Amino acid sequence: MAKSTSPLLHHSTAATATTAQMKQMLYRRSSSEKSHLYHQLLRKHYRWVLWLFLSVYLFLSSSTPSSFLPSPISRRALSQSRTSSSSSSSSSPSLKIYVYDLPPEFNRVWLSNPRCATHLFAAEVAFHEALIHSSVRAVNPLEADYFFVPVYVSCNFSTINGFPSLHHARPLLSSAVDLISRSFPFWNRSTGVDHIFVASHDYGACFHAMEDVAIADGIPEFLKNSILLQTFGMKSPHPCQEAEHVVIPPYISLGTNLWPAPEIAKRDIFVFFRGKMEVHPKNISGRFYSRKVRTEIWNRYSGNRRFYLRRHRFDGYQSEIARSVFCLCPLGWAPWSPRLVESVALGCVPVIIADGIRLPFPDAVPWPEISLTVAERDVASLESVLDRIAATNLSAIQRRLWDPSIRRALLFNPRGIVSGDASWNVLQALEAKLDRRSWRRRRRPRPRSSQSNLDWVRWA
Ligand SMILES: *[C@@H]1O[C@H](CO)[C@@H](O)[C@H](O)[C@H]1NC(C)=O
Ligand SMILES: *[C@@H]1O[C@H](CO)[C@@H](O)[C@H](O)[C@H]1NC(C)=O
Ligand SMILES: *[C@@H]1O[C@H](CO)[C@@H](O)[C@H](O)[C@H]1NC(C)=O
Ligand SMILES: *[C@@H]1O[C@H](CO)[C@@H](O)[C@H](O)[C@H]1NC(C)=O
Repeated sequence: MAKSTSPLLHHSTAATATTAQMKQMLYRRSSSEKSHLYHQLLRKHYRWVLWLFLSVYLFLSSSTPSSFLPSPISRRALSQSRTSSSSSSSSSPSLKIYVYDLPPEFNRVWLSNPRCATHLFAAEVAFHEALIHSSVRAVNPLEADYFFVPVYVSCNFSTINGFPSLHHARPLLSSAVDLISRSFPFWNRSTGVDHIFVASHDYGACFHAMEDVAIADGIPEFLKNSILLQTFGMKSPHPCQEAEHVVIPPYISLGTNLWPAPEIAKRDIFVFFRGKMEVHPKNISGRFYSRKVRTEIWNRYSGNRRFYLRRHRFDGYQSEIARSVFCLCPLGWAPWSPRLVESVALGCVPVIIADGIRLPFPDAVPWPEISLTVAERDVASLESVLDRIAATNLSAIQRRLWDPSIRRALLFNPRGIVSGDASWNVLQALEAKLDRRSWRRRRRPRPRSSQSNLDWVRWA
């Protein structure tokens, strides 16, 4: 990162420094980050800065103003640099969130496996990281509107199948709640109402991939008063969303490749899907994977050359999405899937086949204008639906979809909150809840003597 000389806000220093020192550190950090960003922008756009300089010079030295007219491409670059600089000077939300500095076994320890920070449930890591580096973070818990409890529950990967084992989610969260309620006054004060957790699994805080087991287990009692950030969302009532919550996008890592802008990518695949597609769906005590939708898709279209369907994992599948016009997003065990975000990020029109799904950030992402929805029972008419769209309003959908602000809204930036990104949209949703709730406390004026307020920061 930055070759900054500013001290990093390490947890050990956070516990011992005074508020004033910490504020100064935060200030210095953010100003060094700003200058870093500024230099990055300058580096990225130096051609245009140079061009601008030359143009102004030419304009001033010659009396022919026509030499100043920018070519279309440089106009575009200029407007790009304008948007990126306006997004960094964000209209950041005014709320304050205190981030509990839990012992590392609740979070950091799991990062020894690099997959922990990049797999589809990794919003729990990304939002934590973004918050830590954000000005929204409250150094003094007395000034906080919310309290974030950073527990990474999906990083215990099974050595057999490589999937996250969720068995330990409940005990790990329970011991975190136990610890914060013993060591700080804030949990007991509100019974957890102003506390935030991430539950980015199939069925959110029900912590199970199978719907009937998830429903039977339910949301743990100790989480029911709190606010859950979850990828699971249904329009109809569901036992696994019966807690205050915000629907968030799954975490997507766009690899290290620099993808072409969606509008110039060559799209030679008409319909794309790669993923688990049981030919004989397992009837696990009456449950069918994907409610048989994926099987139906495979049976009907695997012989159709316009459908590029693959059942095996391939690390380069993002390049396939970037080559596709329509990307199928059928339900898996749960209605949501990482494909929703990957398709949007790479400019492929998502075809959502998951009845009743509630999608993330409807205020920021105009889902009905950028995606198609096909009912699970209508999979048989998929091809004619897509043909009709291709013949009528496909280019209108694509124009809307390729607006950079839409893909920004669904992606997390772990190194800090960027205006308009996924974490930023979470904050907007949390701020809206704050305004609606009666428990919003007037934020107290910053106390002068800081030492006494930090007593809780030292773990008992
Ligand atoms: C990880 O998951 C396995 C299987 O559920 C469990 O036995 C183990 O205790 C978990 N590890 C931790 C540290 O919780
Ligand atoms: C909060 O309540 C629990 C259960 O009643 C209690 O054990 C704990 O000590 C309380 N915490 C504080 C900080 O008083
Ligand atoms: C699936 O399993 C359930 C319960 O075990 C059973 O009643 C049902 O007949 C099975 N269905 C098929 C198609 O095998
Ligand atoms: C595309 O056209 C169909 C009807 O032909 C309409 O239902 C749908 O809303 C349109 N989508 C967009 C994004 O304009």
